Formats: sequence, C-alpha cells, structure tokens
Amino acid sequence: MIEINGITKAYDGIRAVDDVSLTVESGEIVTVVGTSGSGKTTLLRMINRLVEPTAGAILIDGRDNRDLPGHELRRAIGYAIQGYGLFPHRTVAENIATVPKLLGWDRRRIDTRVDELLSLFRLEPAQFRARMPHELSGGQQQRIGVARALAAEPAVLLMDEPFGALDPIIRGKAQDDLIEIQRQFSTTIVLVTHGMEEAIRLGDRIAVMDKGRLLQFTTPAEIIAHPASDFVADLVGSADRAFRLLSLSPVDDLAEPGDAQGEPIDASASLKDALSEALWSGRAALPVARHGAIVGRVTRESLIAKAGRPQ
Ligand SMILES: Nc1ncnc2c1ncn2[C@@H]1O[C@H](COP(=O)(O)OP(=O)(O)OP(=O)(O)O)[C@@H](O)[C@H]1O
Ligand SMILES: [Mg+2]
Repeated sequence: MIEINGITKAYDGIRAVDDVSLTVESGEIVTVVGTSGSGKTTLLRMINRLVEPTAGAILIDGRDNRDLPGHELRRAIGYAIQGYGLFPHRTVAENIATVPKLLGWDRRRIDTRVDELLSLFRLEPAQFRARMPHELSGGQQQRIGVARALAAEPAVLLMDEPFGALDPIIRGKAQDDLIEIQRQFSTTIVLVTHGMEEAIRLGDRIAVMDKGRLLQFTTPAEIIAHPASDFVADLVGSADRAFRLLSLSPVDDLAEPGDAQGEPIDASASLKDALSEALWSGRAALPVARHGAIVGRVTRESLIAKAGRPQ
C-alpha cells in the first residue's frame, strides 16, 4: 500500500531522514519508534508531501505520490498531527467535517458521519457536536483529532504520536479504540511513537529509527528476540522493565470471575507470561485454568495496571 524507496530529506546538508526504504502492506499497522529528533515526523510528512524529499520516491497503491497535487493527496490520506492540531475557532463538528466538506459531501452525509465518529470515540454527539476545542479535555481533543483524520474513511492513515498527551489509563482505551477501528475499516496505518511499549502493542511491524536512519524493520516478536543493535536492545529493554515486574507474581493473583476467548493460561504461570500472551494474541482477557479446568479470567487492563504502566 505504501512503498518508500530510498527516501532522504536534508536540511542545510544535514540528513533528517537518511535513505529510508520500507513497505507497508494494505491493512497493516506499522509503528515508527525512535528518540526525539530521529526523523519520525519528517518521514511521516513525506508520505503525504507536507515535506518534499531531497531524494527517493514514495508509491501509494502503486502510484508515485507526486502524481497528484499535494492538496488532493492530503484529502485522500488521513493525518492526525503531533499535538492536537484542532482549528480553535471551529466547533468539534466543523473540525471533524473538514475533509468531507472539501470533498463536497452533502450536509446530511456529513452530519451522519460526524455523529458516527463521535459515538465511536465515546463522545455523546448531542453533547459534543457544538463545543469549541478549548471546552474539551486534552484527551477529548486528541480523540477529535483522530476522528477528523478518519472522517472521509481514508484507506491510509498517518498518526504522529496521537496518544502522546493522554494519561496512561486513557491512552490504553484510546489504543483499544484504534485497534477496533482499524479492524473494522482495514485502514492501513503508519503510527509514530517514542514509546517502545506502544510500538509493540499497536504494530504489526515496527520501524526503529535513529539519527534519520532505519535501524530495523520487523515484527514485535522479532525485535524483542533479535534486536539489530545495542540501541534497539536498549529501547526494548526500557519497555521490558515493566514486564519484568510482572514476572514475580502468578496469574492467580489477578484472576477474576468472568469469560474470555481462546487458549487459557495456567493459574501458576507468571503475570508477565499472561500479559505477553494477551498482547501478542490481541486479546483483552485470557481464560485462567487450574488443573485443566477454567476458573475465571485475567484481563489485559488489570495486568497493565499492575505493571504500573511506567511509560
Ligand atoms: N523544517 C526544518 N528545518 C530544519 N531542520 C528540521 C526541520 N524539520 C525538522 N528538522 C530537523 O530534522 C530532525 C528530525 O526532526 P523530526 O521532527 O522528524 O524528529 P522526530 O523524530 O519527529 O522528533 P520528536 O520525537 O521530537 O517529534 C531534527 O534534528 C530536526 O531539528
Ligand atoms: Mg515528531
């Protein structure tokens, strides 16, 4: 869906992005992770041509992204920018309707879509439609930013640290929402984050950047098992600290009544194993078994809360 070939962006001879190549498959979530200044935002903005590359090319669905005028390209690609980026003098509904309006959708279709998105993000339409951005909490503004990016049902969505400003509990919910929306619409997503935990949780594949270069591009499991360098290992290590805390207690400690789908985990397994399993299998809860019988479940949320969500 997105093919990045040897893309470079230099500012005054300094390469903010240095010869990066990667391919994002249709319906995939690729997370881009790296420290501040590593070139993540610049890379993302070359996809929708808010930044023009110094060298290299980007194909979207097989077409060079320079085939269309930049503004038309950007109507076709959703973009949730770093920070909230809402228009301060437009209502929530007007903000969300930005691209559909540019595309000439009729009033009714726009209204329906706005309400649908508000509901999807658990914001009561009647209550939030007419509010101004300054009348929203940070988390609500961030959700509206993502809703706006999704408004015209783009096949490709670019997200630059969309959950960065959210407190850890809400962030978990926002991440769950995103995964649900992605499954529903099979949107192809490139999501920038500087947290390896978020990269692991959301990414089908992870691109690790440092100083403009792509250090590694592979699945979360592969990055954890075989980090390409000490730098990547350090990034993984900081995420892993939380997991280590969980390795000391058994699943039994957090088992609760209730159902869950899929392969059960043994009550004597560690909480770390349970969280890893929940994350890898994308399940919100796992059945808990004792001596082969299901005795309850353990939820991802309780596991993450136990880890203290150090990010
Ligand atoms: N318009 C510009 N002019 C000059 N240098 C720039 C410009 N935009 C970005 N840079 C530089 O390019 C490098 C990469 O910036 P970029 O914004 O892509 O980093 P980032 O990985 O998104 O960082 P953060 O995590 O802080 O958002 C930085 O050193 C930055 O100072
Ligand atoms: Mg950035």
